[in-house]
Amino acid sequence: MVARAVGKPLPHDSAHLHVSGRAAYTDDLPEPRDLLHLAIGMSTAAHAKLLDMDLSGVLAAEGVVGVCTADDIPGENNYGSIVKDDPLFADGLVQYIGQPLFAAAATSVDAARKAVSEACVGYEELEAIIDPITAVEKESFVLPSETLVRGDPDGALAGAPHRLGGRVSLGGQDQFYLEGHIAMAIPQEDGGILVYSSTQHPDEVQSIVAHATRREAKDIVVICRRMGGAFGGKESQAALIGCIAALAADKTGRPCKLRLDRDDDMIMTGKRHDFVIDYDVGFDDDGRILGLDFEFASRCGMSADLSGPVNDRAMFHCDNAYFLENVRILSHRCKTNTVSSTAFRGFGGPQGMFAIEYVIDDIARALDKDPLAVRRQNFYGEDERNVTHYQQVIEDNIVDELFDQLLVSSDYEGRRAEIREFNAASKVLKRGIAITPVKFGISFTSTLLNQAGALVHVYKDGTVQLNHGGTEMGQGLYIKVAQVVADELGINIEHVRTTAADTSKVPNASATAASSGSDMNGKAAQKAAAKIRKRITAFAARHYGVSEAEIDFRDDTALIADRIVDFPELVQLAWANRVSLSATGYYRTPKINYDRTTFSGRPFYYFAYGAAVTEVIVDTLTGENRVLRADILHDCGDSLNPAVDLGQVEGGYVQGVGWLTTEELWWDDRGALGTHAPSTYKIPTCSDLAPDFRVELLQNMANREKTIYRSKAVGEPPLMLGLSAFFAIRDAIAGDSASRLHAPATPESILLTLRDAPHE
Ligand code: MTE
Ligand code: HPA
Ligand code: MOS
Repeated sequence: MVARAVGKPLPHDSAHLHVSGRAAYTDDLPEPRDLLHLAIGMSTAAHAKLLDMDLSGVLAAEGVVGVCTADDIPGENNYGSIVKDDPLFADGLVQYIGQPLFAAAATSVDAARKAVSEACVGYEELEAIIDPITAVEKESFVLPSETLVRGDPDGALAGAPHRLGGRVSLGGQDQFYLEGHIAMAIPQEDGGILVYSSTQHPDEVQSIVAHATRREAKDIVVICRRMGGAFGGKESQAALIGCIAALAADKTGRPCKLRLDRDDDMIMTGKRHDFVIDYDVGFDDDGRILGLDFEFASRCGMSADLSGPVNDRAMFHCDNAYFLENVRILSHRCKTNTVSSTAFRGFGGPQGMFAIEYVIDDIARALDKDPLAVRRQNFYGEDERNVTHYQQVIEDNIVDELFDQLLVSSDYEGRRAEIREFNAASKVLKRGIAITPVKFGISFTSTLLNQAGALVHVYKDGTVQLNHGGTEMGQGLYIKVAQVVADELGINIEHVRTTAADTSKVPNASATAASSGSDMNGKAAQKAAAKIRKRITAFAARHYGVSEAEIDFRDDTALIADRIVDFPELVQLAWANRVSLSATGYYRTPKINYDRTTFSGRPFYYFAYGAAVTEVIVDTLTGENRVLRADILHDCGDSLNPAVDLGQVEGGYVQGVGWLTTEELWWDDRGALGTHAPSTYKIPTCSDLAPDFRVELLQNMANREKTIYRSKAVGEPPLMLGLSAFFAIRDAIAGDSASRLHAPATPESILLTLRDAPHE
């Protein structure tokens, strides 16, 4: 089959709707008659016994129709999918400021919001743990600490010619999707509930709503046409919003919508885990790492949520692109009285990679070398030094080639020399440059999640409706999968419409996460379309008396030996001859296997690679900093859609730079999040883009594994290209001496570092 749509830089299928305001997000759906709006009453204590909750004032408030508390939950009061430790509404105990206590249902959003402030809640405060370090001291964990050891780290450390150690803190990050959490639940006949949810995981919302409302999965339908961004934030925690809407709809018998405003969304729902990283490294004169001891303490918040797999991924990625022969990683999953941390693009990978890059950078400065040289010393080999600390053999290593190409295209060496000269002459403004690699493992680390389903219908006019378990969050999944289906059937992509993710069309779908959306749904949809193509082919062979090998589909036509028949005409004929034109497809990722008890095996089908060079300038009097130029080379294999993939690379990088430079989460001593709006939490804007931004996809580098059209996953890996910005800032302010710069490198963090650094 000749690919026609695949590989083309087609625009996002909803681009024309996005830019004209016609793309329907959950809040834009027509509101049903009798709709009630919900607002959440939130805990104002970080850790306390709930003594009493008087909601009479709420109920008496204007427009209020009802309230919902833990007592109104007919089924399970839980939305934790792995560990059942996530109450929908607090029951007797509150564990973070912002935790939902109750919902008020009213005839308008304003009425509901006003009403919740009428609640009288009595607390008996308990001791609260606000930060991961205290949690480690008090052994407060959501899950047991895990250790991964390879080789003999203690022996290697003791015998190493040089040794360094230290502690660095790495901040969390709010997903800051433009569309906040939202769900609308509509009671259906005979006990059914329909939930429109902004979720990466409709299947999980379905099962959790079923459990909470004491129903069965068959009674619940969850639909999501698109999200206005998710970034991991809607992987597990959308279930909370969907459930509250469903519970209120169940209780009142009326449709209910819950839409969090920005502040409530930031206060009530989870973010990227911040980490405290302790390290002890031994290395030789060339900077080659001989032994390494890592201890990670991450803020998991008040419950386990996805913290198990997030921290596992941090452990898997603390090698980044480097061979660690003797290493120990101890990972603490700290229980704090703050909102439960959750998935965020990279899913722990960025934190692990930051740790090793920090160590490499330290080594370079201790040895007075260019960090580039130390990075190269430590890269995985292609045929030797190619086994990860979790025993996966790396078969697709291309980091050296990527570096070679990017070093030349970015003129790294020339610019570094020039920057050194500039800095020697400039007292206040200092420039810095850094190159960092990305190697990111593709697959859910939980093997069972690596499966996907699709449903393809061909209608009598030859057009197609495509459905799969994947959700669209702006990443361009729908267009990529549609391209695959169009090519499988040899039709123009305009004849393919992708319908909303819907649990009644494709059941049991995994979250659209781990960057695996197009890999898995692309394959599943291809298989579904191939089934229909085969049926039509078999029919046409019989009908026209030719062999199947003489039949091909392209350009909206079927080539049948020497005949050309329009695809719609052939489809009509097949239908009239009673050929089934609808099929499901199913895919499971091959080759992966992994034993979580020993942290060994092959958790990842393959790796995605990239590299970035960032140049920054820092004002050493104010700490103010900006990116001047960024050069990126990223590996998407044979890209399904280079336009969409380029957008993912650019967006991922910018989001990574935001995480490490401007986005700062700050909790006060009581555990209240102080940064819960754009006024205090600064995400990158257009004006923060590098004025000189050069992004390329690596060419002629097909995935060596048989992924869909040999493409590679692209959703998360580019975020970690942003690491180069942090190390460029460190380069600018450190000169050639080491210094302790904590992340994010806000002006404040930079000034503190400069204050503590030895003066020239
Ligand atoms: N891109 C946009 N525009 N919006 C998003 O919410 N989420 C990211 C990434 N890119 C996201 C995005 C995350 S966290 C993941 S896991 C992947 O997209 C998920 O989609 P995919 O598997 O189809 O790449
Ligand atoms: N990545 C993203 N989401 C996940 C994963 C993962 O590895 N495991 C469970 N949810
Ligand atoms: Mo992405 S953090 O795997 O949703």
